[in-house]
Amino acid sequence: MEKVYTTIGTPNIAFVKYWGRRNDSKNLPANSSISMTLDEKLNTRTSVLLSKKLNEDRFFLNGKQENLEGKNASEKSRLIKAALDSMRSAADSKEHALIVSENSFPTSAGLASSASGAAALIYCLNSALDLKMDTKQQSIIARQISGSACRSIFGGIVKWQKGSRNDGADSYAEQVVAPKHWPELIDIIAVVDSKSKKVSSSEGHTLTPRTSRLYRLRPEIAELSVDMVESAVKKKDFKILAEVIIRDSNNMHATMLDTYPPIIYLNDVSSDIIYNVHEMNVANGIVAAYTFDAGPNAHIITLKKSSKEIIKRMNGIKGIKEFIVSGQGDGPRMLPDSGSLIDMKRMAPMIRAQRR
Ligand code: PMV
Repeated sequence: MEKVYTTIGTPNIAFVKYWGRRNDSKNLPANSSISMTLDEKLNTRTSVLLSKKLNEDRFFLNGKQENLEGKNASEKSRLIKAALDSMRSAADSKEHALIVSENSFPTSAGLASSASGAAALIYCLNSALDLKMDTKQQSIIARQISGSACRSIFGGIVKWQKGSRNDGADSYAEQVVAPKHWPELIDIIAVVDSKSKKVSSSEGHTLTPRTSRLYRLRPEIAELSVDMVESAVKKKDFKILAEVIIRDSNNMHATMLDTYPPIIYLNDVSSDIIYNVHEMNVANGIVAAYTFDAGPNAHIITLKKSSKEIIKRMNGIKGIKEFIVSGQGDGPRMLPDSGSLIDMKRMAPMIRAQRR
């Protein structure tokens, strides 16, 4: 009997970021990176149905059908189709797929929707095609859709080793520690702007290494920072961790500004958050680190005991729309049939109001 498989996946926030590739077509990074997988407050839910009754592959994202092929297909959709084709051929399956995916948070707004989406999809296809791929193989395929997605295959603190091979077989993520190692470590997301970003991270990964002179220094600095984060996390040394996180975010955004033409993701509200975090750290000892991805939304990394004080302080900043407090997540998991996004009788997406 045909069956719908449904997975929930979550984004991750990089403490040392991936920015810039050594190979564009395979998403091979210039440096290793390390991140924290978030809990299910922000999530992507993905349902997959494989059926002989379907006459083509179909993909729905947030209720809208996306072209998987042809000139109207986005780069992400093409990469999704390529991953689907390769997994299907590994499983020797001839069935078409209906994929329905919903983000519980704004898409393409620098909140890592592509990481949670790609991780949820690969995890789901692995079950739907009964491939029994291990997490390393899943991480390699997820990486090809969106680099940072390879880290969302795992929970807790996760390291993506850049690798050196041209085929990418040694460029995948691995768990450093499970969430239970340091459950006090959390992320307070200050949502500043939930609109789609003007420059996609994919464009940036190509443009910055090509045009920024400052960027030449970054891969080596980032590699050292990854080692420092790994050791600080293992020792639960928040002071060192916070400084490396802050410096890496600033380093990455400096190379973005040095890109020609420049890429600017931070705005005045982001700057206010930066100054407030430093003022708090001077006044109270190191209590928080900020880090920004490809957008103005701040991720304030802190310990649970400081969260009230931080939110109170940040509430005084004009322009923050909401706070989302996230602990560490366990990585993707299967959901029961009741979580399905596909109406089996119509073989079509169900209309749900899951989005924030
Ligand atoms: O995986 P991508 O192509 O969306 O790039 C991610 C880029 C950053 O979020 C800025 C950094 C990171 O490592 O997550």
